[in-house]
Amino acid sequence: MPNLFRIALCLLPLALAACGGGSDSTTTSTSAPATTPAPTATTASAPLSLAAQVGDKLFFDATLSGSGKMSCATCHDPNYAYAAPNNLAVQLGGTDMLQPGTRAVPSLRYKEFTPPYADLLDNPDGVSVPGPGGGFTWDGRSPTLADQTSIPLLSANEMANASPADVVAKVKAASYAPLFLQAYGSDAFTDTTKAFGYIQAALQAYQMEDQSFHPFSSKFDLYVANKIGGNMTAAELRGLSVFTDANTGNCASCHYQGAGLNGSSALFTDFSYENISVPRNMDIPANQNASYNDMGVCGPLRTDHLPTSLGAPNAFCGLFKAPTLRNVALRGAFFHNGVIHTLYQLVHFYNTRDTNPEIWYPTVGGTPRTTPDANFPTYGLITTQYTGGTVQKFNDLPAAYLGNIDPQMPLDSRAAGSTPPMTEAQMSDLICFLNTLTDGYQPPANPPTHGTCVD
Ligand code: HEC
Ligand code: HEC
Repeated sequence: MPNLFRIALCLLPLALAACGGGSDSTTTSTSAPATTPAPTATTASAPLSLAAQVGDKLFFDATLSGSGKMSCATCHDPNYAYAAPNNLAVQLGGTDMLQPGTRAVPSLRYKEFTPPYADLLDNPDGVSVPGPGGGFTWDGRSPTLADQTSIPLLSANEMANASPADVVAKVKAASYAPLFLQAYGSDAFTDTTKAFGYIQAALQAYQMEDQSFHPFSSKFDLYVANKIGGNMTAAELRGLSVFTDANTGNCASCHYQGAGLNGSSALFTDFSYENISVPRNMDIPANQNASYNDMGVCGPLRTDHLPTSLGAPNAFCGLFKAPTLRNVALRGAFFHNGVIHTLYQLVHFYNTRDTNPEIWYPTVGGTPRTTPDANFPTYGLITTQYTGGTVQKFNDLPAAYLGNIDPQMPLDSRAAGSTPPMTEAQMSDLICFLNTLTDGYQPPANPPTHGTCVD
């Protein structure tokens, strides 16, 4: 974590716990906080522009799909912070609604603050080394929210329209076609390419303007803005301190914006890309093919960074975007491949990926133990204990790219069997803190004085 970042964070009253000693873990990672406009909460009552009103209609219109059954909101449900309303790793789409995706659905909240992707994005703190950052989707291949819309509208396993012209024809036939003409002019449908561009612009305008995409109404926001009486609880404040402490959770080093931090504007991502080598998810049908590897920035969905660059393994392989952690408690599937299903499991993955790889990655050649050790963890992805065999650590990354794995805490490659960085109590507090990032918080009339996430 750069020093300037620590200073900025310490300006937050609630972060004081995070501002004691502790050594700075400045490692050689690819982490690159990005320049981004200072986010501000827009007023709830600001009326939508005509373009955004069209975007609102488009976003919820299931006729804009090959199946007639799928809108943007099918996968990006407003009741789940515009992420998936279920715990499936990937969603089903396509003309028959049976075609599986290859990645988990991200939340669309707070995305409008994302700068376009750059291999060497400048770091606003002026300290950290520039690195890959910005852009939309898990691999940053879309430069703008408008550009991004062509992916779901045209992908055969998502909304599966036959062509941009197909989409335009459907909008022309929609009940809101007059609104579209009002927004873009009476000849707006004449040129198909232009009309498709208007559709993309309208979807972007809706996501940028509508308050529901950036409500800043979590307990964390209300607390920082002094809008709830009293404190966050003791447990939540301890959790924040684990989140920022470079020697335990260190989450802030990738999931916090370094500069421009004031009050509730914290976005809980620095838009950077790292390789943390999450386990392969065999629930994704594409992964049944052993030669298929989703390697994020180096493809296959993204095509401008080839796996081999100048004869050497490309350093961009296996990098995925560190997503915002706002509303993360509403998710049913975590990471780009949705392999993790609860926050409890997720923080344990960060804590024990290196100390207990056998509970996260498959073992080959071993013999299942008939009576496992009583203390063999049950929260991992692998619950069978083996005698002998080899753990296939980092099993979703071809060996040539192992050098790309980020060495930052808490994933610091410590030895198997050694003590993990966080205690159970610290992880429990960390989860309490992550739960304060869910929007729509209503302070209870009589706040509990004891209980989970309170004491
Ligand atoms: C079938 C489910 C599905 C549908 C329908 C869908 N999306 Fe998505 N969306 C996804 C997935 C999966 C990703 C991540 C894709 C990737 O990383 O390659 C995504 C990514 C995004 C992103 C990038 C978010 C980020 O974190 O950078 C935006 C913006 C977005 N979708 C908007 C839309 C819009 C607008 C529509 C309607 C036109 C739509 N989506 C329809 C599944 C869906
Ligand atoms: C070295 C940078 C780094 C650190 C440190 C880090 N993360 Fe992450 N985090 C990432 C990246 C990169 C991803 C996406 C990885 C992927 O999908 O393959 C991610 C994904 C996540 C997700 C999934 C969110 C979603 O939408 O699916 C959660 C939750 C999360 N991190 C929480 C944490 C917590 C809690 C900590 C501290 C214990 C932490 N992270 C530390 C880089 C980091």
